[in-house]
Amino acid sequence: MKNKSLLPDDLHNYWTEVANTYQWKKKWDQLQTGDFEQVNIEWFQGAKLNITENCLDRHLEKRRNKKAVIFEPNNPQEATSFLTYGELHVSVCRFANLLIKQGLKKGDVVCFYMGMTPELLIGLLACARLGIVHTVVFGGFSSQSLHGRLLDSKAKMVVTHDGSFRGDKIVGLKSMVDEALENFQQIGELAVEKVLVVKRTQSEIQMKPGRDYFYETLIKDCDIYCPATSVEAEDPLFILYTSGSTGKPKGLLHTTAGYMVHVGNSFKEVFQIKENDIFWCTADIGWITGHSYITYGPLLNGTTTVIFEGIPTYPSPARFWEVIEKHHITHLYTAPTAIRSLEKFGNDIPEKFNMSSLKVLGSVGEPINEEAWHWYHKYVGKQRCPIVDTWWQTETGGIMISAKAGITKLKPAHASLPLEGVLPILVDEKGNEIHETVAEGNLCIKWPWPSMARSIFGDHERFKQTYFQTYKGLYFTGDGARRDHDSFFRITGRVDDVINVSGHRIGTAEVEDAINEHPNITESAVVGFSHDIKGQGIYAFVTPMKSSADHEILKKEIRDIVQKIIGPIAKPDQIQIVKALPKTRSGKIMRRILRKIVENDLANIGDTSTLLNPECVEQIIKTKNN
Ligand code: PRX
Repeated sequence: MKNKSLLPDDLHNYWTEVANTYQWKKKWDQLQTGDFEQVNIEWFQGAKLNITENCLDRHLEKRRNKKAVIFEPNNPQEATSFLTYGELHVSVCRFANLLIKQGLKKGDVVCFYMGMTPELLIGLLACARLGIVHTVVFGGFSSQSLHGRLLDSKAKMVVTHDGSFRGDKIVGLKSMVDEALENFQQIGELAVEKVLVVKRTQSEIQMKPGRDYFYETLIKDCDIYCPATSVEAEDPLFILYTSGSTGKPKGLLHTTAGYMVHVGNSFKEVFQIKENDIFWCTADIGWITGHSYITYGPLLNGTTTVIFEGIPTYPSPARFWEVIEKHHITHLYTAPTAIRSLEKFGNDIPEKFNMSSLKVLGSVGEPINEEAWHWYHKYVGKQRCPIVDTWWQTETGGIMISAKAGITKLKPAHASLPLEGVLPILVDEKGNEIHETVAEGNLCIKWPWPSMARSIFGDHERFKQTYFQTYKGLYFTGDGARRDHDSFFRITGRVDDVINVSGHRIGTAEVEDAINEHPNITESAVVGFSHDIKGQGIYAFVTPMKSSADHEILKKEIRDIVQKIIGPIAKPDQIQIVKALPKTRSGKIMRRILRKIVENDLANIGDTSTLLNPECVEQIIKTKNN
């Protein structure tokens, strides 16, 4: 017997209507099955499709000559390039044919470790064309992190650049891939057979015969058409790794049809996109934002999407505004940390540019503080452009709570209302739903939505434990939120051991594990603290074995080891060397106390007398970094 859906009628009808706007090779037998008790969610059971037909082929009749992609290189002196929908279709087909020739097939995994160039987006779509699963690893992660993800995902191929331009630096991506493939073999057997290298920086690199190939050489012989493989609705589309409060990063598994339906629809609804709009999302494709709102969301809607290779401050802090003026950007979607870092350079910089093309501004990744919101609204949007503050997660696949541009009233720093088809609720500590409109609690989602992650790759038990055990029958987001008299949500931040640094999730346990690899460190505790630009910074308390060690050298070594194991984004901003960490009698480190110390909230430290070592609290306060 088939599983029955418990989805309420209004949600059922809404998603049916939305799904009917897409192109299917075969429509679904059942819209949605499974529930949050069993954690066996499926959408569009029985349907067959190919997402790239919806991103590309479907548009060819009307939009063949319309720009699909604008590529803005790191160096503004280098010419911008464009791909029309027709050209993008050809590029994707050729890349797909290259993958076929290299022996890849439906269900295989290909890892992308690249800079932001059109080949990255083309590569993802080429995989999707064939039912190959993509997993993108952000180029800022270390070779050891890359190794871990290659091992976990069982990727057969890595696609990389010789090097990637980032501001005035070149990141040696290919040599990092070499390290990831060769230096950590003792940790486990990798499945990688081939490395495909796209030339970008012309850096000198090593090529291993029989394993490494240049994209430019292979692509020459590839045919310009490749039929789209028919995949099942629940066939995997991609794996994307993200940090949680415990253990190693989780590979969240997203499947095809539900992701397509929700992401395409949320893009249209939130940004209120029109035919001639030019959409610029400044995220990296290595994060979920770049998957959903640089790649799939815009292309599903036939929109022009911008790929920006550089950083906001290179060659000057005017870069964002220059790009907006140059390409007549209508929609700018960026992170509060970028806004705060550009605000620092003064109001007169954006004033110098003609940004009258802008219609809508977006914010994503972390709570936007009111001050940054007002600056964004006044100096970038000239008080004409609505700001959509979009709340969502790697796990949710697409936007869940957000204003709709020009429709929902604006309230600074509020993500505002759930999108249609999505039902977030607030629960108290015991998991009871709070029915009063004005309330504060933990944010959960009550019913399945199409683009939710289906599992953690290779560990469904962990998926259940992480998201569905805290509150029975609900998806728990890990965020706290407030709801006001208009039913508008304001996200207050993570309530678990995850720090949000510049909009990037860092698990405290992951950083602690890296620090503890240092031979002179006995133990460590990592907490977040308020940071003017990054939103949150990383504060590490460490206890050395030999207290005589030079503290400055030790701190540098700790930063280096974190950079080596995880990557530069996880380097602690503050390190405090302490004799002992506050612990319960059962030996558990009391991070709550450390958080209060870091926040200078000493009045609320609470009773420390029951600790195993209450005396250390006083000592930590006295020696705290300012
Ligand atoms: O804490 C929330 C915060 O970012 C977390 C999700 O991080 P990640 O999976 O990396 O995805 C980021 C891009 C979608 C959430 O649990 N977050 C994201 N957007 C917002 C936000 N916090 C407040 N307001 C937002 N708009």
